[in-house]
Amino acid sequence: MRVFSYNGAEWGTRASFLGFCYSDWGKNSMFLHFLRRASVVLLCVLAVAGSPALAKRGNVAAAVNGSIASGGSNCTICHGGGGGSGSVQILGAPSVYAAGAIYDLTVRVSDSAQLGAGFQLSAEDGTGAHVGTLLITDAINTELNGSNPNWVNHTELGVVDSVANWAANGNSADYNVRWAAPASDVGPVTFFAAGNAIDDNNSLVGDNIYTTSQTATLAIVPAISDWGVATMVLLLMTTGTLLLRRDVATA
Ligand code: HEC
Repeated sequence: MRVFSYNGAEWGTRASFLGFCYSDWGKNSMFLHFLRRASVVLLCVLAVAGSPALAKRGNVAAAVNGSIASGGSNCTICHGGGGGSGSVQILGAPSVYAAGAIYDLTVRVSDSAQLGAGFQLSAEDGTGAHVGTLLITDAINTELNGSNPNWVNHTELGVVDSVANWAANGNSADYNVRWAAPASDVGPVTFFAAGNAIDDNNSLVGDNIYTTSQTATLAIVPAISDWGVATMVLLLMTTGTLLLRRDVATA
């Protein structure tokens, strides 16, 4: 048996290595002592270096879906690859939302040149503050991002499922997520999604990254006439307040 370094370069035969280890010099030297320590450290380093790679498939970093809160960062900060001719879509997002209402959204990643997909979704206001509540309805394939409920992602199993059903789904994968609108008016809400259409090689190359966003406004019907224009002008002049009537949200 021969001894190899982690990158495959040959260091020497195991016999010659052991010969050295069991020589008087090897057994008693500080060098061997150091070597023992170093090998433990090396194994630890390799274990740690290996684990993020394994974890990433099902444990994506938060704030990489191209949103305002992401500072525009998306999966491409790690994943390379061509632009691709596929897409990510947010289906079921309302164009007008009702306060307190529940919406079932689907993030669909499609790419006829690829073999599976992952995603990340968030709901934010114009300043990047997260709005409403993201709820998990499919815990096998989707999860909140670690302890951070502001982002929802694929799970590792979700990626495996997407690969298994990719062709049957017309070279696409659907991830279902529920969003509960905030109880009160917070103005326009934008859903941001990033999709990674993968070549299923467990690496950072050869993936196609897509981003999209869709904005929903709260159903408010300003009815100035109800107040009377004269009253409005008076109010505006005396208090600097502009009063609009807010109707009950409809959609
Ligand atoms: C901080 C770096 C980093 C970011 C940001 C990142 N990933 Fe990854 N991702 C990785 C690494 C490393 C791997 C490869 C290891 C693996 O597949 O287990 C990976 C693998 C994947 C895979 C499996 C790929 C395959 O071919 O099997 C999917 C799916 C995936 N990432 C989705 C995403 C999505 C979607 C985003 C953006 C919302 C994203 N990743 C952002 C590091 C990252």
